[in-house]
Amino acid sequence: MSAVLKDFPRLVVMAERDLDEVMATECVIYSHPWTRGNFADSLRAGYECRVLRLGRELLGYFVLMVAAGEAHLLNLSIGAAHQRNGHGSGLLGEAMGVARSQGARSLFLEVRPSNSAAQALYTRFGFRKIAVRRGYYPAHAGREDALVLNLPLA
Ligand SMILES: CC(C)(COP(=O)(O)OP(=O)(O)OC[C@H]1O[C@@H](n2cnc3c(N)ncnc32)[C@H](O)[C@@H]1OP(=O)(O)O)[C@@H](O)C(=O)NCCC(=O)NCCS
Repeated sequence: MSAVLKDFPRLVVMAERDLDEVMATECVIYSHPWTRGNFADSLRAGYECRVLRLGRELLGYFVLMVAAGEAHLLNLSIGAAHQRNGHGSGLLGEAMGVARSQGARSLFLEVRPSNSAAQALYTRFGFRKIAVRRGYYPAHAGREDALVLNLPLA
């Protein structure tokens, strides 16, 4: 009987060498993507940056800032071809685990009101809307508000 070896997604610390692939994904899935400099600055600042890979393929990534008992999820992304396979949920769970391990008691993030996919994901995890930042995001016509969401981690 032959064994079937199944490959599982691996979470790896993001490094400068990942940024070509990260940017290739970022520029496809966002109307207003982060720049390479935004990712490089996050790495230099010591933020918790991770990539999710299946074999050599990049599935997604996150950038998390943790300070003073609070965590802020700055970027959570799954490549277009890999969405709706549970990877976003897996990655969000990993980000929560990293936040907890760094002593965060609460996780914050911003999301566009127009981003119903992300909002559905966050709602499933129990995030609640706590504020609106007016005109926070650039948009095709003017600016778009941000919903500020929070999840207690205790
Ligand atoms: C938001 C995002 C991270 C979700 O990743 P994903 O791997 O597709 O998510 P999952 O497969 O784990 O989906 C979990 C749940 O989220 C919700 N969801 C995800 N994508 C959805 C969509 N397109 N429409 C509606 N609900 C959606 C569903 O409730 C889904 O559960 P279900 O598939 O059982 O219905 C991904 O769509 C993405 O990277 N989008 C572009 C970047 C982005 O918007 N990031 C968030 C910025 S705040």
